[in-house]
Amino acid sequence: MSRPTATSTNLSPTSVCPAELDPARLPVHVAVIMDGNGRWAESRGLPRLMGHRAGVEVLKSTLRLCSDWGIEALTAYAFSTENWSRPGDEVNSLMTLFERVLQKELRSLEQEKVRIRFLGDLDGLPEKLQNLIDDATERTADNSGIHFNVCTNYGGRRELVRAAQSLAQRAAKGDLSPEAIDENSFSRELFTAGEQDPDLLIRTSGEYRISNFLLWQLAYAEIHVTDVFWPDFNANTLKQALLDYQGRNRRFGGLDPITP
Ligand code: IPE
Ligand code: IPE
Ligand code: MG
Repeated sequence: MSRPTATSTNLSPTSVCPAELDPARLPVHVAVIMDGNGRWAESRGLPRLMGHRAGVEVLKSTLRLCSDWGIEALTAYAFSTENWSRPGDEVNSLMTLFERVLQKELRSLEQEKVRIRFLGDLDGLPEKLQNLIDDATERTADNSGIHFNVCTNYGGRRELVRAAQSLAQRAAKGDLSPEAIDENSFSRELFTAGEQDPDLLIRTSGEYRISNFLLWQLAYAEIHVTDVFWPDFNANTLKQALLDYQGRNRRFGGLDPITP
């Protein structure tokens, strides 16, 4: 995937895919659970919000690296349906942070031809954020670069229930025969409709769980867990995750490895 030449000072120069990686066997779609912002900040005696701010910078650089190295889609878990249970001031700060970042970064996203989409129950977000999301989605919808999906107020179980409800409503109206429901028609009801399933899931901060992320879509993803906290994730840790991925045998239930 080609990237435009940097046209303003806030764009760093294109970085090339590290020589240790086989560019022909990169994952098409990488999903990431960006965890450990709070612990990163606390370990430095800083408020948790500073960890989230640092995390945003890392998400921006990870997006650029993925785009530069030839990955076609990046899906990042930014806020789960369960994260509302955090203290109100942390939730409010996160919503304000999302608003500020979106306002500030939209121009760069447009220049870099990123197609951004927000996956989740967007109706549950503050109105200002919803408006910014609508604007960013619309303005980048036709872009030809990396697909950047930001999961915001996202829960895998809620996504599945929503898909089931939508199909059930169509069946109740007589527009859909229950026998016609198959894996393809089901996945078209998910927030990720049209996106290939992730090949690789990266989780930072050493937690071995998926925390209600992409429950359907991760069915055959390779999983890479790294101990580093998300604000410390960088080109080297991304390369390690991709090397780990390229060393895997993906069998999809069969006996022979299927080379990516
Ligand atoms: C991930 O970092 C970001 C969000 C869930 C919004 P955390 O905030 O979960 O950081 P830890 O896990 O408490 O360190
Ligand atoms: C997962 O991290 C959600 C996001 C990264 C947005 P959490 O920190 O919320 O997950 P748990 O609570 O450790 O499972
Ligand atoms: Mg966490």
